Parts: sequence; structure tokens; C-alpha cells
Amino acid sequence: MIDEPPLSLSVLQSPSGPAAQARPADLIRVAGLSVTMGQGAKRQVVLSHIDFAVPEGAFVCLIGPSGCGKSTLLKVLAGLVEPTSGTVSVAGLAPGEAARQSQIGLVFQDANLLPWKSALDNAAFLLGVTHKSLPRAELRARAQAMLSLVGLGESGHKRPNELSGGMRQRVSIARALALDPRVLLMDEPFGALDAITREAMTGSLLEIWERTGKTIVFVTHSIDEAVMLASQVHVMGIRPGRIVQTVEIGLAYPRDEGLPETAEFGQYKRRLRRALQASHEPGAVA
Ligand SMILES: Nc1ncnc2c1ncn2[C@@H]1O[C@H](COP(=O)(O)OP(=O)(O)O)[C@@H](O)[C@H]1O
Ligand SMILES: [Mg+2]
Repeated sequence: MIDEPPLSLSVLQSPSGPAAQARPADLIRVAGLSVTMGQGAKRQVVLSHIDFAVPEGAFVCLIGPSGCGKSTLLKVLAGLVEPTSGTVSVAGLAPGEAARQSQIGLVFQDANLLPWKSALDNAAFLLGVTHKSLPRAELRARAQAMLSLVGLGESGHKRPNELSGGMRQRVSIARALALDPRVLLMDEPFGALDAITREAMTGSLLEIWERTGKTIVFVTHSIDEAVMLASQVHVMGIRPGRIVQTVEIGLAYPRDEGLPETAEFGQYKRRLRRALQASHEPGAVA
């Protein structure tokens, strides 16, 4: 197998984490991106003149009203939707090529697990597909390590119907991480979970991010989630889908569960709320 991407065995970085890296280079670059979809009278500009860059190791959130193109933007980054104009690169590659080289891990709102497979086999599934020559023992060891990382080290034998919604989503994160991608693209991954589970997942994801140093682009509807997770939030507007404002979240990491009670957190929430309110007005720039 000469075509397989190299598999780094050091998924886990030093405990100092991403913050220790000085001025990281941009891992994702989007310049002048526009996407038009549909035919004839249904033709519409879904994304218009999107420009942003994501430094390696950053945690970036996209937030905006329904239909503003968040999922489409993530699909462009994943190589699943072609730009109509503009340029996009991930790890220096066209997104489709980056995906082919396992540089991109995807997590959606639905965990999409195979119901007849155990949590361990589900976590190993994509890695098994992309690295067919990987010895079975190594495949399982790696999937087990990722399950442990997401807090499911003891649950590898369970089938999806024996797992809670939060646990199923943890398996889908383990499945994406098993590829050892440089970028994790997450589309409202906690959107279907109850409030308490969602908070626990948010804390776990921050820990996973700090331990792995992955670059994360995370789509959410939740202002709280965006402020808790991101170092930078792009607020998107609708008709056409575009970035109306970028808000830097200057709260230090690690962020603990008491943070939402602080005045600073409240200030960032109010800023994001104002930007979002403005973003609902077509054509408005916040
Ligand atoms: N394959 C497609 N063909 C035509 N229109 C699409 C397609 N995918 C998405 N759209 C349209 O693009 C817009 C943005 O959709 P989407 O990216 O799903 O928004 P969001 O995730 O922000 O809710 C919507 O108006 C949607 O109808
Ligand atoms: Mg969406």
C-alpha cells in the first residue's frame, strides 16, 4: 500500500498543549470564497466573499442564523462542496486532497455509528478503511486509545444502542481522532444533546483539544458554547451567507466550568449576541 497517508503514533502532544506554540502558521486559508447553488430560478448565492484563516492549533467557532451557510462552509473545508470562486487550502492542500490524506476529521450532529458494531469497532472503522494494511492489533490499540481519550475506555464492548447520546457522540469524536487528522471539523456536534450532557461534552472537548493540539473549526447555534470553546468566533449573516464580524475571545485557557459565572464571560456573550442580532438583518454589517 503506497497510497496510504503516514500514521503518526504521537497523537497526544506534550502537556503544555497548543498554547505553548509561538505564532503558529495558518493551517486553513480561505480567500474570496463564494458558493452558488441550485439551478434556474432556485439559483442562490449560499456563501459570498468569505475570507479567514485559522492558525494551527486554534479553536475557531462559526455562529449564525439557520440557513446562513455554516454547514456549506464546513463542507467546503472538508472537500465535499467545490467553491464557485475563491481559494481554500487545508494544511497547504486543496481540501479534497487534505481529506484523502486523512488530514481532516469530521463530526456531525448525528453520531452515525454502525449499530451492529461495538464502540471500539466503530472508533476503528474509518482508520480501517483509510489504512487497510494496518495490522488489526494496531488498529484496535489505536481505537482503544482514542476511546480512552474521550472518556470511554471501559465501554469499547458496548453497542450504540447501549450508549447514551453523549457517549455515542464521544465515539464519533474518537472515530475522527483515530485518523490523527490535523483539523477537526465539527458541525453542531452537541446540538441534539440535553443541556447538562452538552456542558460535560464542552468540557471534555476542551480537554481533548488541549491534549491533542488539533485545529478545530466548530459550528454552533449556542452563544455560551462559542464563548466557552473558541479563541475566535466568526459571526455569519444571511442572504447572502457571509462573515459579518469576527470576535476574539480573550479568555485564557484552560477554561474551567466556573467561567460562565464571571463578568468577563458575560461581556463576550453580550458582544456575540449584538453581532448575531445584527446578522439576522439581510445585508447588514455588524
Ligand atoms: N445542495 C444544495 N443545493 C441547493 N441549495 C443548498 C444546498 N445545500 C445547502 N443549500 C442552501 O444553502 C443555504 C445554507 O445552507 P446550510 O449551509 O445548511 O446553512 P446552515 O448550516 O447555516 O443552517 C440554505 O439556503 C440551503 O437551502
Ligand atoms: Mg447547518
